Amino acid sequence: VLVVRHRMRNSGKCARAVAILKEFEEKCGTPIGKLKQVADAMDVEMHAGLASEGGSKLKMLISYVDNLPTGDEKGLFYALDLGGTNFRVLRVQLGGKEKGVAHPEFNEVSIPPHLMTGSSEALFDFIAAALAKFVDSEPEGFHPPPGRQRELGFTFSFPVRQTSIASGTLIKWTKGFSIEDAVGEDVVRELTKSMEKIGLDMRVAALVNDTIGTLAGGRFHNPDVIAAVILGTGTNAAYVERAQAIPKWHGPLPKSGEMVINMEWGNFRSSHLPLTEYDQALDAESLNPGEQIFEKIISGMYLGEIVRRVLLKMAEEAEFFGDTVPPKLKIPFILRTPDMSAMHHDASSDLKVVGNKLRDILEVSNTSLKTRKIVVQVCDIVSTRGARLSAAGILGILKKIGRDTVKVGEKQKSVIALDGGLFEHYAEFRSCLESTMKELLGNEAAETIVIEHSNDGSGIGAALLAASHSQYLGVEES
Ligand code: GLC
Repeated sequence: VLVVRHRMRNSGKCARAVAILKEFEEKCGTPIGKLKQVADAMDVEMHAGLASEGGSKLKMLISYVDNLPTGDEKGLFYALDLGGTNFRVLRVQLGGKEKGVAHPEFNEVSIPPHLMTGSSEALFDFIAAALAKFVDSEPEGFHPPPGRQRELGFTFSFPVRQTSIASGTLIKWTKGFSIEDAVGEDVVRELTKSMEKIGLDMRVAALVNDTIGTLAGGRFHNPDVIAAVILGTGTNAAYVERAQAIPKWHGPLPKSGEMVINMEWGNFRSSHLPLTEYDQALDAESLNPGEQIFEKIISGMYLGEIVRRVLLKMAEEAEFFGDTVPPKLKIPFILRTPDMSAMHHDASSDLKVVGNKLRDILEVSNTSLKTRKIVVQVCDIVSTRGARLSAAGILGILKKIGRDTVKVGEKQKSVIALDGGLFEHYAEFRSCLESTMKELLGNEAAETIVIEHSNDGSGIGAALLAASHSQYLGVEES
């Protein structure tokens, strides 16, 4: 009798866990009709954001980049990339069309967490110090001639209201950053102050978002690149707009007739987005409640955390991991997206990787195969929703610029440069994004609309933009 009762109790609990799973799956649904509504809403918001400042949740920021790299860029340039948990410095020798990008050297430094929520001065001092150290390692023969300043492309991956190609004020922080006293400040001035303090003589020639850097880096290799999307810790997109289609731009009309726009699509929201109770709770408890809603259901910083919240509910209401709730499961952000990706990717028959991750991260051992399978399904639901919504966002951009349908005989390719850890390392996410693009566009258009991985376009792109905005342009190379 006891055994039977135990089994019945267990199957009741299991049914409850499955019910929670099914309900979650339903709420996360992204049928094609919904994705098209999201794309249409994105298109509408893009128009609104371009029409007037504050006209939309989409900021549609003017980048002051009205010319993308041509391949003629020359000289030694530095780039600095700040925007995730790491920041990177890069030095590259640009050799024009013949020699291309030569001798790129990188260095990656992780940012101590306390600096992400400390003071502006502390953060920029830290960055300047790392940059100075990197400059010290400049090889013999690479030094600039006497009297010539080193120049830097600064990739700063947060929303910035630019006042020129090399200045701009921080609108707000996103992702895990929150440094009050930097908001409203010119980030180039802050960095320059920190460099001067330690005697590092370097000029910021271009301030760019990572999407803009990726677009520039992508265009350098492929002239058909028209937009860039980042799927990493955060998510965002940039694209080339006709200057005349930007009513809020009152500056002179650029010669190229074009202007690159940083959409800040992470802040997009729409009643068509499939949001769940878990997303609402995550948002409410985040550093920036009510903001970056699109980002919070798509990007790498949050996907693992959504999975954790669903598993926690199952543990609390269906004894999913046994009669007690594993204490570790209550810790926000303990389940990182790379771990989620590893579990989702587990192809072993007994889901060994899943078992090991649950043991190592949540300290639950001896999980049954059934339990592990449900965990994989939660990962699948969360990543599928994120990938499909990213595809819908891309379709929105293509619609805005009239490239979503292909005329018969049309040969013109539209290439979207993609970068970011989520796209690069989460195989299931990436393939779902790619197949959803095909599903949305149809076979014909899928031939001319291409998604391309632009590996570290962002750093090289910033260096290229620094070169095309160098103070020494036209001055003979020595
Ligand atoms: C966040 C930032 C945005 C950046 C994106 C990807 O959304 O606000 O500027 O491009 O993350 O790094």
